[in-house]
Order: sequence, then structure tokens, then C-alpha cells
Amino acid sequence: MSKKSDIPFRELTDEDLAEPLTYNTEAFLSREYVVEERELLWAKVWQMAGRLEEIPEVGDFLTYNVAEESIIVVRVEPDKLKAYYNVCPHRGRQLINTPDDKNGVCGKKKNFVCGFHGWTYSLEGKNTHILDKQDWKGALDDESRICLSELSVDTWGGWIYINMDPECEPLLEFLGEVDRILSPFQFEKMRFKWRQWAVYPCNWKTAIEAFMEPYHVSGTHSQLLKYGQFYAYSKPYGLHGVSGFDERDASQKTSQSSGVARAGLGDPRISTYELARENYETVNFSASTETLINAASRLQHELPEGTPVQEVMAHWMKSAKADDAARGVIWPELTPAQQSEAGLAWSLFPNQTILQGVTFALCYRTRPYGDDPNKCIFESYALERYPEGEEPETEWVYAEPTGDKWGKVLAQDFANMEWVQKGMKSRGFRGTLPNPHQEQKITNFHRHLARFMGKDSIRLLDEKAPTDSGKKKKKSKK
Ligand code: FES
Ligand SMILES: [Fe+2]
Repeated sequence: MSKKSDIPFRELTDEDLAEPLTYNTEAFLSREYVVEERELLWAKVWQMAGRLEEIPEVGDFLTYNVAEESIIVVRVEPDKLKAYYNVCPHRGRQLINTPDDKNGVCGKKKNFVCGFHGWTYSLEGKNTHILDKQDWKGALDDESRICLSELSVDTWGGWIYINMDPECEPLLEFLGEVDRILSPFQFEKMRFKWRQWAVYPCNWKTAIEAFMEPYHVSGTHSQLLKYGQFYAYSKPYGLHGVSGFDERDASQKTSQSSGVARAGLGDPRISTYELARENYETVNFSASTETLINAASRLQHELPEGTPVQEVMAHWMKSAKADDAARGVIWPELTPAQQSEAGLAWSLFPNQTILQGVTFALCYRTRPYGDDPNKCIFESYALERYPEGEEPETEWVYAEPTGDKWGKVLAQDFANMEWVQKGMKSRGFRGTLPNPHQEQKITNFHRHLARFMGKDSIRLLDEKAPTDSGKKKKKSKK
């Protein structure tokens, strides 16, 4: 991220996020805003471009398209990646065709040969062939004119990140505390279980925000309420944020309050299984694993009636861990404190969501679609730890946003996003009223987005709104 200290904006603190706030809807609705994002956001921020497992060998490449830009990431040595803009320096043809109906293109190359006039580039990005180079009278002897344009690439947790800003900070600095808190989950040892994408009729932010807060569980996924309460905390970590289970009544907090694994209501030997199975089956067989479900199904036979909830949970984890070990899936060692701090689900700025477990992750990513503020590319994928050699082969599958393709829970989320996009356009909408306790990930997102965009578009609810559609500088109260 570039230094943005010259941009006027009212800086909200982490503490401010616990206060009633409001943010503008311009970011969701304005075509001009989508166009501005290209330069001010996407060209300046680290963003996830793919997974290392997609390009395991030297010469393997993938493309990542975002905001009218296309990037090639290629493995140039066993432990070295490079990223290039997907364009030939001659007359601008894409080196790798990236059709709109494909979600990224993968392949293997010894070198990149442009399909138009045959200019050729090594994996290292050097130009190795120009037909009739002498015609340029020596002007192309300057390698910097004819090599591929490179950009920053780095990896974390098995994900590949790119940044178009030549002045960008290191990826680890951008991730901040996320690295310390989430690295113990060893996402780099997980592999795709499935991956699906769709072009969906809402802004990319409307879409990713549908997965930033569990506050919507009661209203949207009400079938889950019979298993327990879904009160959540939500808090910022720099640009990023986390949410997890919480208790409305602070005196009820337990060590499991912020964990992923949670018992339901009633006999915990039974409700633990029922909740885990319901979640698994209705979130397209993700956010848990077969091993965890099977181990949960045995709880009522392996434990006596009246076993306290803490013991039920501990037994569940212990037996699932042993079952996995027997098939060659070794769990990373995570202390209860580490699990608790990691919470339930992370939002990595700007568009990556990770709902993590010890042996799985359910993830989302959204991107803009052309300059249409009302459309996005929506992706979801499940990661899991597999015994070596048993990883499934997957590819991006286009899937219409329906229950039979994505599972009941995701279909319920889809059934909101489009209508949020439409509803926000109403002149009767007085402005957003995000929950100060349970939706801080969203307000944190907007305060950082505003900073990148140079807009004063989020404020304390009782502060006077700027008159100039969010662009005018206001005096800070603090
Ligand atoms: S545009 Fe690539 S060789 Fe001409
Ligand atoms: Fe949801």
C-alpha cells in the first residue's frame, strides 16, 4: 500500500468502530467509483491471485484478472514465482487469452510466444525473439523496452498474492497480525476440495460483506437457531478483521465462545453431531470434514449421558484427530488460546474471506465485473487436508447461484445479496446502520477502503454528513 498520508480523510480509530457509524452507499452503486477503484484500490493493494497448488511445476502458470487488468503468475524455478502483466510489449495483445467465460487460465509453458507476430519471452520475462528486429534501427536493443512488465508477487498460507504498486510494502507487513494468528493453521498444507464461481448481480463489496458477519444468521439461516445462539463479536486487525462466537451475557463466556467448534442446545453428545452435520451438509460439504462428522456421530455411543459440554468437545476433537492420523492426516498443534484468538472467520482486505478450522477452510473472493457496479465475480472454494496422494483434482466450475449447486446455506446468502444491491438505491434509504458490536469487520473495511479511495465516506452516525458526496474534508472531533 502506498503512503496515503496526503489524502484528506477523517481517520476513525479501532475504538470508534464500537460506536454507531454509517458509511456511504456510493461505493456500491456508482459506476464512477468502480472506475476509480482500478487506480486507487486494485493497483495499490496486495490481493490473492490463486493457490500454489495450481502451478506446482516449473513453467506452470495461471492468470488472474481484476478490474480490467490481467496478470500472469508463473513458476520460474521450483521455489520461485514471477508475475507479469498479461500483455505483449509489441502492440498490446494479451499473451495468454483470458475469455470472460473462464475463471482464470492455467497452463504450462517453456516460453511465452505472442500469438500476433510471434515475439517470444522466456519464463524469466526476457525477450528472446523479435522478427526483423533490425527494422527498428537499434531502438529495441534496450531490453527494458521489450521484456515483459513485472509486478510484485509473494505467497502466504499456500495462496499467491500480487501487488501492482511498485512502492508496495512487503506482503507480511500488509498481513500484520493475520500471519501470527493464522499461520499455525498451515493452510499451505490444505488443497482444494471444490471451487465454484458465478457472475452475480451485485457489487463485489455487497457480495463479500454477506460473509463478513454472523449477525445475519438469525434472519437468514434461521434453521440453525434450533442448535443455539449465533451472537458474534467482530473486530479489526489493521486492514483485516475477524469474527467469532460471543455471548450476549458476558458472564456466560467460556473458552469455546470464540471457537469454531461449538455444541448445540440440549444433550451436547447429540446436538454437537446434529449441528456439525447440518452445517456440513448445507454449506456444500465444507466448513468441516468427513472425519469430524463421523467422530461427532459416535459421541452418543462413546460418552455417558450427562457428560459436560467441555468434555464432549474435547473427546470429539481427540477422536477426530486420531481418526485423521490413522489415515495419514496429521493435525497442526494449536493451543486452545490460539484457536480462540483465531475466532471463526477472517476477512483479509479487500476481498478475501477465510472461515478456518484445523483441517479445513471455507473461502470466498469477489471481484468487480467490468465497470458495472451491479455485478461481480463471486467465488467460493473449500480447502481440506488430505493424505498425501489423495488430493482431489479440481478446477473452477461455473455454478448458477442456486441451492442445488451451492448448498442451502449459500443459497440463502445469495437470496439476500441481489436485493441488498437493489434496496440500497432507494431514495427512502436513510443510510447504513451497521451493528457496532457484530459488524465491525464491515465498518473496518469501509474505513480502510475510504482511505485507499481518498474519500470521507464513513463517519460516526451522529456526525454531520459531508455535503459534497463524501469527498469533502471534515474536521476531526478527536
Ligand atoms: S502484439 Fe505481440 S508480437 Fe505483436
Ligand atoms: Fe450466511
